[in-house]
Amino acid sequence: MGIKRIGVLTSGGDAPGMNAAIRSVVRYAIYNKLEVIGIFRGFTGLINEELKELNHRSVSNIINRGGTVLKTARCEEFKTEAGQMKAVESLRKNKIDALVLIGGNGTYRGALALEKKWDIPCAGIPGTIDNDISETDFTIGADTAVNTALDAIDKIRDTATSMERIFVVEVMGRDSGYITLQVALAGGAEDILIPERRFNLEEMCHHIVEGNLRGKISWIIIVAEGVAGGEDIARQISEMTSLESRAVVLGHIQRGGIPTAKDRILATRLGQAAVDLLLGNWRRKAVGLVSDQIKVVDLEEAIKPKELAVDNFYRLIRILT
Ligand code: F6P
Repeated sequence: MGIKRIGVLTSGGDAPGMNAAIRSVVRYAIYNKLEVIGIFRGFTGLINEELKELNHRSVSNIINRGGTVLKTARCEEFKTEAGQMKAVESLRKNKIDALVLIGGNGTYRGALALEKKWDIPCAGIPGTIDNDISETDFTIGADTAVNTALDAIDKIRDTATSMERIFVVEVMGRDSGYITLQVALAGGAEDILIPERRFNLEEMCHHIVEGNLRGKISWIIIVAEGVAGGEDIARQISEMTSLESRAVVLGHIQRGGIPTAKDRILATRLGQAAVDLLLGNWRRKAVGLVSDQIKVVDLEEAIKPKELAVDNFYRLIRILT
């Protein structure tokens, strides 16, 4: 018995480009004679049967919109056996044969639970600004988030140089220094603090004071939110260097906005691949992009910690300071 009707959901933190992925899944699935059910608010909506059949037109004019038209949520109930049971009942009752799940690590863990414990065919699409999913070079939303943060950092540089100050800019990435590394290189930041690399604040302050004695007047230091609060770091730097420091927390603006071309194209390609994956009866898989080729990858592998090329990037940031 083949797959006739699929569900699509977005879960966890939204990421720009998720809508382009939804559009691609819906239209490519319909092209392949599948019915598509939109599941609202991720696993929460699956449990509560917040479902709606989607057609070609349901996804008109969303390719350029940030966020997710399906809404999203972080669902504690789904982590329990009882929650999963309700979700599976909802799938059976509504005759949904398989799922496309767009999200990050938590979403993938949910997909794996549905596959392993409840035998539901699932296809994962990596969507998170953190770019912390393994087995894919990029996740949907990361490029847009980096560009959004970079735009802010460029503006901060204007005031940093004009007022001769140190700016500590806190960017998103609870457990990942991806955004930090990218914007630090692209924005010409002086230093970074990321979860993947031990740091020594005293040493950093020593460099700052040395630079100041040579005539350097402004600094931009990027901090990944998972390491420390930007405010706290700025205060410590002020105390240790006697130079004026300010903190800027970029926060959730990094999750919004018009997706870049790169994110839309990635999302569109991955959407098609996820539907193909289900049609091909692959199990416990996700899709990813490796060296610009779309790949089918193991969900199990995809949730393993992702290696960041920290050392090379960090070295370059320091050399170019
Ligand atoms: O979705 C990823 C992310 O934006 C992380 O970078 C961040 O740590 C987290 O989500 C914030 O989550 P919330 O919006 O639930 O506070």
